[in-house]
Amino acid sequence: MLYRLARTGFFQLDAEKAHDLAIQNFKRFTGTPLDLFYRQQLPARPVECMGLTFRNPVGLAAGLDKNGECIEAFDAMGFGFVEVGTVTPRPQSGNDKPRLFRLVQAEGIINRMGFNNLGVDNLIENVKKAKFDCVLGINIGKNKDTPIEKGAEDYLICMEKVYQYAGYIAVNISSPNTPGLRSLQYGEALDELLAELKQKQSELAAKHDKYVPLALKIAPDLSDDEIKQICESLIKNNIDGVIATNTTLDRSMVDGMKHANEAGGLSGRPVQLRSTEVVRQLHEQLGEQIPVIGVGGIDSYVAAKEKMMAGAKLVQVYSGFIYHGPGLVAKIVKNL
Ligand SMILES: Cc1cc2nc3c(=O)[nH]c(=O)nc-3n(C[C@H](O)[C@H](O)[C@H](O)COP(=O)(O)O)c2cc1C
Repeated sequence: MLYRLARTGFFQLDAEKAHDLAIQNFKRFTGTPLDLFYRQQLPARPVECMGLTFRNPVGLAAGLDKNGECIEAFDAMGFGFVEVGTVTPRPQSGNDKPRLFRLVQAEGIINRMGFNNLGVDNLIENVKKAKFDCVLGINIGKNKDTPIEKGAEDYLICMEKVYQYAGYIAVNISSPNTPGLRSLQYGEALDELLAELKQKQSELAAKHDKYVPLALKIAPDLSDDEIKQICESLIKNNIDGVIATNTTLDRSMVDGMKHANEAGGLSGRPVQLRSTEVVRQLHEQLGEQIPVIGVGGIDSYVAAKEKMMAGAKLVQVYSGFIYHGPGLVAKIVKNL
């Protein structure tokens, strides 16, 4: 009820302004009596995944808290894990505005933010200051002006810097808004990248005496064969997890709607079925060997359960959180 009211206000604003205002308020309210508006005590539903214990399987997906400014607020909402980022080695402003659009009718969002973030060093400072109990995922990417052939270097720089502060590291090669990025999902390019990341992980594990799992985040816009090849590469390189999916370029579910033709990635309810199908195919090929984290269009307990029945060990929400608020997390966790 309270979120419905807040949403009505926020939805009067331009989508990015509303996002920035929400982040500012979360930063201001957390730790004050005003955080009562979103603080939630949820029942424990512990899950073991990637060698970590999650207090419940519902996480916040990457992109909402790109700079790790509100970890404590999302922790207070009861998320089992929070994935901050995508963060890049150097700060960058992202694409020109407007770059974020609501498709309210479909409970969808189109974004072409382009990894706007304050850089990895800033994110680490925020993480160091934060006090939280949930698992922290740090999602890493490459700068737009780093040539794609040198993309691996950006991931390695970020990995080195975030390693000791992360519960797990998510490797994002699936944003449609960084030119060329998705090419890293295929064939030799993927194999080489994963081998380099794995090598770096073992060096850092020895250095910090701590094993931090690596999860690869993939797109929904892949053929069955491409998914199969990704699975082979994940197994060959002993990657710890896979996050499926990022946003889609497909517009068939929103044809004719306002904003449907904006460039960028579509998320929310319109991507729900496709993401679940990708989760299902991944699970079919990876079995219990490599866990799948399911994300895409989760807007209810049933949608979360569908991802889990398709094989997801954990789930994440972004668009559903924008449309339904913290109550969505409570509804899913309580029903599990
Ligand atoms: C505005 C916006 C920004 C996003 N930024 C990122 C990002 O920086 N890194 C990333 O891996 N995913 C990003 N995503 C993708 C989400 O993490 C998620 O994979 C996708 O939106 C599907 O989930 P949903 O339908 O619950 O939103 C972003 C999504 C949105 C809507």
